[in-house]
Amino acid sequence: MNRPVLEGVRLNAPAYVRHAKLVDWVARMAALTEASDVYWCDGSDAEYDRLCEVLVAAGTFKRLNPALRPNSYLACSSPSDVARVEDRTFICSERQEDAGPTNNWMAPAEMRALLQTGRADGTPGLFQGCMRGRTMYVVPFSMGPLGSPIAHIGVELSDSAYVAVNMKIMTRMGRAVLDVLGGDGAFVPCMHSVGAPLEPGQADVAWPCNPTKYIVHYPETQEIWSYGSGYGGNALLGKKCFALRIASTMGRDQGWLAEHMLVLGVTSPAGRKYHVAAAFPSACGKTNFAMLIPPSGMHGWKVTTIGDDIAWIKPQTDGRLHAINPEAGYFGVAPGTNDKTNPNCMASLKRDVIFTNVALTDDGDVWWEGMTDTPPAHLIDWQGKDWTPEIAAKTGAKAAHPNSRFTVAATNNPALDPEWDNPAGVPLDAFIFGGRRSTTVPLVTEARNWIEGVYMAATMGSETTAAMVGGNGAVRRDPFAMLPFMGYNMSDYFQHWLDLGERLERAGAALPKIFCVNWFRKGPDGKFVWPGYGENMRVLEWMVGRVAGSAQGRHNPFGITPRYEDINWDGLAFSPAQFEQVTSIDRAAWLAELGMHGALFEQLSHHLPAAMTATKADMEARLAA
Ligand code: GTP
Ligand code: SPV
Ligand code: MN
Repeated sequence: MNRPVLEGVRLNAPAYVRHAKLVDWVARMAALTEASDVYWCDGSDAEYDRLCEVLVAAGTFKRLNPALRPNSYLACSSPSDVARVEDRTFICSERQEDAGPTNNWMAPAEMRALLQTGRADGTPGLFQGCMRGRTMYVVPFSMGPLGSPIAHIGVELSDSAYVAVNMKIMTRMGRAVLDVLGGDGAFVPCMHSVGAPLEPGQADVAWPCNPTKYIVHYPETQEIWSYGSGYGGNALLGKKCFALRIASTMGRDQGWLAEHMLVLGVTSPAGRKYHVAAAFPSACGKTNFAMLIPPSGMHGWKVTTIGDDIAWIKPQTDGRLHAINPEAGYFGVAPGTNDKTNPNCMASLKRDVIFTNVALTDDGDVWWEGMTDTPPAHLIDWQGKDWTPEIAAKTGAKAAHPNSRFTVAATNNPALDPEWDNPAGVPLDAFIFGGRRSTTVPLVTEARNWIEGVYMAATMGSETTAAMVGGNGAVRRDPFAMLPFMGYNMSDYFQHWLDLGERLERAGAALPKIFCVNWFRKGPDGKFVWPGYGENMRVLEWMVGRVAGSAQGRHNPFGITPRYEDINWDGLAFSPAQFEQVTSIDRAAWLAELGMHGALFEQLSHHLPAAMTATKADMEARLAA
């Protein structure tokens, strides 16, 4: 094979790289970005250790005390680069209506000029020369089990070693992927730069990034271009950019679903196993629910994790929807995680973890708000400043950033489901949709049919969180918890869900039941009324009981809900009055809520399925009755 040689930079492609188009693309990108070196990741443990050392030397990583947190690191980002940037995220389809009213859009040619080729006025493209003085890492990865027919391959080119080591944990990454890719396999090119070139002699900073940020997707050509951020979903391009935004368009074209869902297995005391996929917006409880430990009063129930953030769901020949987790690790929210709320997660984090933006203890371990009841007397906060409980009481300074996270391999999770990387996936019995709502939305409601379930998911609202820049607790509509992750027109996506259900129903399949939940209702004292976390098992038991046909409920204007006596209360003191607080339906609040559904439907009127407005009219009629 001809190996292109560039002026001034060696491509360094190892002999095992046999894919001419890949090598050619890497060469063109090295030329565009003027990277000073190219390094091909093989995905080995030795390479991981080496790159972590590079990050320690650069000041990006601090090695944690190996006696307390073996093989683990802390990275602290620039305060300007701490979460996904939704207003800088673009879907660049040829036609604006294909991106739809919920996405930022720019014509592909215009975006390419801005990013790659330069504009008519002479402004160079942002990627031109953006890796000067830096190494370009070639990161081949598989979303889904290596070589499985449902997996898809991507190659990320990044000037961030932090990205390379995170991708090693979050995906199946390295040489084995190129072996599967062979000489001409298909891959999604994922271009990433922190946008901070180094001139000769210029000192680097611990967290290079650029105030200008672009997270760009070209759905028709299946490309991702991300500029200016090194954080999370902005930079680990296999996750939201590929496995949700690009994959959702693949799913639309090929008849499957890419969803912002955890997938769990739940086994009853009698030994029957169910599989549930649940969509909650960012920082609203997916990781916690996926790792749930049933309370002691519910002896015999067991929950196992298939995935904690993303599900790819495909109809199989048995007529059922099967789900796989395309990821291999968890990039989870740290604050609020502790031995009571999520013991499985705490056990997962004992070793081999990359922490980002949590606080450092004086003995070289980590801490975050909610990890322990009593905070340590002194910490170095995520911004490198001294932190004490006294300072915090005065200034309100957080030791850990509210969107601080851990990166850890799924195999560290003691509750990992044995089927978690089965390429055939697991057959789904139920879908759950849940928002963060301090008022209005009851603890749990079952949709009477698929269309009602799609309606519930489509109109879901949630209070925004620190997972997005600007998240401030305001309620917004977040259809299917996919608002920031949709790769195409939201109304077409609703139609895709309806079509899929109709197709399966016509084929005589048992469709998964659809439920809507809310763990976050607050009382007059501003505190959560529902105890949540492990206690969510009680609601899960009711839901799988409904699937099995054993649990009772009553009809309300929106669906079916459990009465107090329909829930198992063994081992929990939760009174009927408290139950009323988390399940009551306030007519005035719901009239306002339906008004917000109406506003959403107005925004989405182009291609909005008629079934959505019809279902709304039915609900309004029942509420008025
Ligand atoms: P992303 O990774 O951003 O997609 O989020 P996620 O949905 O996985 O969120 P996660 O499970 O990490 O939860 C984030 C926040 O929700 C943390 O502050 C948790 O403490 C809180 N949380 C999770 N489950 C519950 C619950 O049942 N009740 C209450 N009150 N809070 C919860
Ligand atoms: C989310 O925000 O939903 C996440 C974290 O799961 S990130 O990967 O940064 O998008
Ligand atoms: Mn997420």
